[in-house]
Amino acid sequence: CVFGASHTAPQEPLQAWTEDVVSYSGFQLWSATPRNQEEREFLLKIRQDYELEVWKEARSDNSPVDLLVSPDFQTELKLRLADAEIPYEVTISDMQTAINNENPNVTDSGDEFENRFSHKMDWNSYHRIDDIYGYLNYLADTYPRLVQLVSIGSSFEGRPLYVVRISSSSSGTKPAIWIDGGIHAREWISPAVATYIIQQLVEEPSNERLLQNVDWYIMPVMNPDGYEYTHTSNRLWRKTRSSTGARCRGADPNRNFGYQWGGKGTSRDKCSEIYHGANAFSEPETRAVSNFISGKANQIKVYLTLHSYGQYVLIPWGYDVQYPIDYNDMKDLANKAASKFRLYKYTVGNSADLLYPAAGGSDDWAKSIGIKYSYTVELADTGNHGFVLPASFIRPVCEDFFPALEVFVDKVATLK
Ligand code: ARG
Ligand code: ZN
Repeated sequence: CVFGASHTAPQEPLQAWTEDVVSYSGFQLWSATPRNQEEREFLLKIRQDYELEVWKEARSDNSPVDLLVSPDFQTELKLRLADAEIPYEVTISDMQTAINNENPNVTDSGDEFENRFSHKMDWNSYHRIDDIYGYLNYLADTYPRLVQLVSIGSSFEGRPLYVVRISSSSSGTKPAIWIDGGIHAREWISPAVATYIIQQLVEEPSNERLLQNVDWYIMPVMNPDGYEYTHTSNRLWRKTRSSTGARCRGADPNRNFGYQWGGKGTSRDKCSEIYHGANAFSEPETRAVSNFISGKANQIKVYLTLHSYGQYVLIPWGYDVQYPIDYNDMKDLANKAASKFRLYKYTVGNSADLLYPAAGGSDDWAKSIGIKYSYTVELADTGNHGFVLPASFIRPVCEDFFPALEVFVDKVATLK
């Protein structure tokens, strides 16, 4: 989910340019709730004045805006919000503490696993990219009749881009569901859910039914460079890691797809969190995905892309408040899926309408090439922890989400 100040560099801690590891010590997450147009405009002004990074925003009145606030501005900002009588609360009082507590007990690939390149995995912590890839290799090694690991290209830094094909027939030509995670680097819950889905489909015999009429293409980490960077250097990095020729690296992969590229809710500032890239599909990651999916556009019937946070099922179009002609079909299916969630409540609706217009998204592109059921899912939570969702949430979020897939399977089975 969500972007930074739309035309300027998000204020990142100074160390970002001078040191390898970024600290968010003293940074806070504030949740402000403007109640009318006037208050919304005032908040927008404040955001620009302080170049505040927005973590979450929705269009309706009385829905909170989550802001990352540097220690330098907290005193001043308090006064200005009090002046304007805009209610707000501090949801995370020290971001670095939240980051430190998010992912304890990481048991990454090591002694307890059979070997470095092929091993099991758990959903008790967030894992490094090598660890995730080790698990994918393990599955391909262990279940060769079910699982195929396809490298669809390389990331900017040279990591393989893996798609897991799960099919109970050797030909793998049944109608298919595509799921990707980790487009945005810091949205850690997304690769966790994607790998959980893979685990359930492959290793849980009671889910066999989900493979009977459907093939699966699952890409758990679309932006592996960014993902690894959030583990080693800057927990809150969002974009790819490509060089732009300027001081700031990376493009927003979810503004880089080739449909309505460069439109609303994107930026040509290379330092912006929503930088759209030099051109459509300038990033090797989005290019590889679009090539692969284009080649299977007739087979793939459902496109799901997992993000966080906000608990939404978002329906195209996202580039503007526009509705596809079959919007009602799309909405019916999304509602059915959302009705499966027990623990977390998801809001279903048009992306640009619920959140904000943002062009160049993968969901819009998938829809534009004829994949009828294309959705963005914003996973938990709604803002208590935001991107820094403690690892203890991984299992509940995964288990809550998985049953919804049945709805998509049933739909695909009737499409033939
Ligand atoms: N939070 C996501 C983003 O900002 C929402 C994307 C929705 N889709 C779209 N095409 N705008 O990237
Ligand atoms: Zn996202």
